[in-house]
Amino acid sequence: MHFNNAGCGLMAAPVLAAMVDHLRLEADLGGYEAAAARAEQVRGFYAETAALINCAPENIAFAGSATHAFSTALSAIPFEAGDVILTTRNDFISNQIAFLSLRKRFGVRIVHAPDVPEGGVDVAAMAALMRLHRPRLVTVTHIPTNSGLVQPVAEIGRLCRELDLLYLVDACQSVGQYPIDVEEIGCDLLTATCRKFLRGPRGSGFLYVSDRVLRAGYEPLFIDMYGARWVEPGRYEPVETAARFEDWEFPYALVLGCAAAARYAREVGMDAIGRRTPALAARLRDALAGLPGIRVLDHGRRLGALVTFVVDGWEPEPFKAAMDARRINSALSFRHFAQFDFGDKDVDWCLRLSPHYYNTEQEVDEVVAAVAGLTAAGSS
Ligand SMILES: Cc1ncc(COP(=O)(O)O)c(C=O)c1O
Repeated sequence: MHFNNAGCGLMAAPVLAAMVDHLRLEADLGGYEAAAARAEQVRGFYAETAALINCAPENIAFAGSATHAFSTALSAIPFEAGDVILTTRNDFISNQIAFLSLRKRFGVRIVHAPDVPEGGVDVAAMAALMRLHRPRLVTVTHIPTNSGLVQPVAEIGRLCRELDLLYLVDACQSVGQYPIDVEEIGCDLLTATCRKFLRGPRGSGFLYVSDRVLRAGYEPLFIDMYGARWVEPGRYEPVETAARFEDWEFPYALVLGCAAAARYAREVGMDAIGRRTPALAARLRDALAGLPGIRVLDHGRRLGALVTFVVDGWEPEPFKAAMDARRINSALSFRHFAQFDFGDKDVDWCLRLSPHYYNTEQEVDEVVAAVAGLTAAGSS
């Protein structure tokens, strides 16, 4: 039973077929020739992804991962000493490390907006911090990796638009789980991976770059021959579209797999997925919360498909191994994944279960029964 969709979803059959088909073509024709033969389908990646998040194909750049998309976006911002990055206490671990790295190299200041008592960022406090600091960048992880929290990214986006602040959203866990509309969110940049709730292949993701950002001339630090034209020996010109944020070399089979995944998600229906997936998680969360020895850790006004909890009397690895032995896929998170959140919750680890729309209610109930059996048995 696959309850690790926040790690990696199960690829849909058309995704696998698109990739295998292209790899065969590369072996038959040659890699460059195969890409040329499938140029139209490759363009389909941009069209499908754009349709998924409500933008134009020219606003989409392929990336090898969400982290790669995020660091490429960050590299485009000309940070100076004293610039403020305003973020939250629940932003993704690698993003937090990147902010610390920017602080080390450029002397930027990192400001974390406080949370409301019920969990999730305090939007009013964030608004005050925006006015106080005029941050160079506001950045929020829509759904963190280590809890079910869904952050109010559109409310924050409205403030950023009002105050004309650059806004980067990490939608790695929400793309494919909820309908995403970059216009409604009001972001300048948005990053995602394709392997999770979108059910695409590993090693793939994308970056949305708004027209505002493109027109303002932002470009990644290490722009290459695909993102720029070398127009004379001492000068290059960035290309006009989000291709500015891409590299020349592409894993074409993965790009085609992602196109198939985005198409598949839209065919299934993002509204239906966005209703069913969190509802399955809520069923799981509520049932787990009723078990003795279990502490469910998800806090927030809105909760998504990531269900996290700790188990009395168990160490993390043996507990996960016991779940594996029952053929239930899950994932562990540790304190160092979420220094603020796990510090506040005073836990060192949690087990994460993340259903997707293809899981059944019966599977959810079986998982709950398995956890109940393990807690009753204890670690011995
Ligand atoms: C919220 C969030 N952001 C970013 C990432 C990084 O994604 P990737 O592994 O594709 O770089 C993850 C991965 O778990 C994530 O959960």
